[in-house]
Amino acid sequence: MNGRKKVAVLISGRGSNMMSLIAAAMAPDYPAEIALVLSNKPDAGGLQKAEDLGIPTAVVDHRDYKGDREAFERAVNEILVENGIEIVALAGFLRLLTPYLVNEWRDRMINIHPALLPSFKGLHTHERALDEGVKLHGATVHFVSPGMDDGPIIAQGAVPVLDDDTPDALAARVLAVEHQIYPRALELVVTGKAKVKGHRVATSVDTSESAANTLIFP
Ligand code: GAR
Repeated sequence: MNGRKKVAVLISGRGSNMMSLIAAAMAPDYPAEIALVLSNKPDAGGLQKAEDLGIPTAVVDHRDYKGDREAFERAVNEILVENGIEIVALAGFLRLLTPYLVNEWRDRMINIHPALLPSFKGLHTHERALDEGVKLHGATVHFVSPGMDDGPIIAQGAVPVLDDDTPDALAARVLAVEHQIYPRALELVVTGKAKVKGHRVATSVDTSESAANTLIFP
């Protein structure tokens, strides 16, 4: 036992947020280890990246469960439990969850979403932010509740929306913020500093020292 909390990262794609968590966890004083990377897609690019770094991986292909979401989640949960996982971090895990898995991991499962929630839940957040003409956009890390992209907010980072932004340019700027806030938010969760109180999360952080919770640009 090294005293570090065992975290599973769940992915469906390239895994850049997964890599930001793995990189943070390489620091000897980081309070979590990435003990498992699990994907619902056998061809997710992030799986190979994790394997190359010697991190255990698993695949539970949702297509094998023929639309039975809970059966899929029971298979996922079994692997999480078998591996002694304590905290689950969703990182581009693009499956809608049923109350079963959400309740199994209540207050122990977090997600990153590429928007300043509660605005722009769901997909195509950057296109929608441009369509709506918002001047600030960003990313949110939150505890997972039964609703899609819903739950008490742990950390947010904001970027300006520029006059000549395209969805791709804006996505790249937001992704850089995602990579900053996710390791920080996970650290707050595993150290017990992020505490759920109703719909809000108290973080016991001196925000004068923390850029992670307020990255507001002019
Ligand atoms: C990230 O932008 C993440 O915020 C988003 O998927 C992308 C995954 O990229 N998640 C959601 O949209 C969840 N609703 P990554 O595989 O490079 O981390």
